[in-house]
Amino acid sequence: MLVQEYFKSRSGILEKALDAYLQPVSDTPSRVLEAMRYSVFAGGKRIRPMLFFATYEMLIGRKNLRRLERLLPVACALEFIHTASLIHDDLPSVDNSAERRGKAACHVKFDEATAILAGDALITLSIECLTYIKKSASAVKCIGILTRAMSTRGMIGGQAVDILSANKKINITTLRYIHIKKTGALLQAAVELACALYDAEENLTITLSNFALNIGLAYQIVDDILDEVGSFEVLGKEPGEDSRNQKATYPSLLGLEKAKKTAEKLLRDSYNLIKNIPQNDIMIEFVNMVKERLP
Ligand code: IPE
Ligand code: IPE
Ligand code: MG
Ligand code: MG
Ligand code: MG
Repeated sequence: MLVQEYFKSRSGILEKALDAYLQPVSDTPSRVLEAMRYSVFAGGKRIRPMLFFATYEMLIGRKNLRRLERLLPVACALEFIHTASLIHDDLPSVDNSAERRGKAACHVKFDEATAILAGDALITLSIECLTYIKKSASAVKCIGILTRAMSTRGMIGGQAVDILSANKKINITTLRYIHIKKTGALLQAAVELACALYDAEENLTITLSNFALNIGLAYQIVDDILDEVGSFEVLGKEPGEDSRNQKATYPSLLGLEKAKKTAEKLLRDSYNLIKNIPQNDIMIEFVNMVKERLP
């Protein structure tokens, strides 16, 4: 099965669940609710929930849409928290991006205060989603995984160092830290959440978590490369933003060719981590999908 087919066949239940968890805009505060819906449905690729589904389906050893139903609160939590991170990432005080997912960024379409609150509300909604997991011990475990991935030890930590490092000369070790945290942490959480719900043994969880970390770092390096040489269609915004913001990126530190080689090596490493796991076809396709984003 091609990864595109996989995404397509699972997007119906995911989009329906995202819609169901979001409060209707007829409720109060309608402007914030409208902004949340606007950003969630602006056209994201849904990579994190799909990676979560794919990991779980590899572990249970079969693909079955019915089995994914109980996982929907977790899949939605991942997409809500990711969307929140993008809304806040685009704010004038952070990356000052006017475009996102091919549309006006949330603070441009609405206003800055609404965008801050919409991001905050999506974060709290994602934790609320996890409380709907039937077994309470699993719910607590999942809340632990997701909050840690979001925390100062995870995405927020990466974003903080990213912001502090703008206009500065930083080394590749610091940049690797930024990328692993700001992007890798949430992809790692997607895989670890699937392992937790399947009750995977510790060694397998560690292997898959490393797989996701490599993919996450590679994904952000590819994003940096696309910001230099990509197109609006692929990025969902005009490229050239990182140099405008004087951000350190893999291509600015290593050059385009070496940055590409680094991403390819990380993707090879992630492939090697899963190549012997049964039913790994979609996971391998995931690796290829990230590789195909390379220009
Ligand atoms: C964008 O993530 C931010 C990065 C981590 C590079 P995605 O490329 O997954 O964005 P959407 O969700 O498809 O908009
Ligand atoms: C995104 O990094 C990381 C997070 C939003 C957590 P970027 O700032 O490079 O992402 P884009 O380029 O705006 O999508
Ligand atoms: Mg940023
Ligand atoms: Mg940005
Ligand atoms: Mg970027």
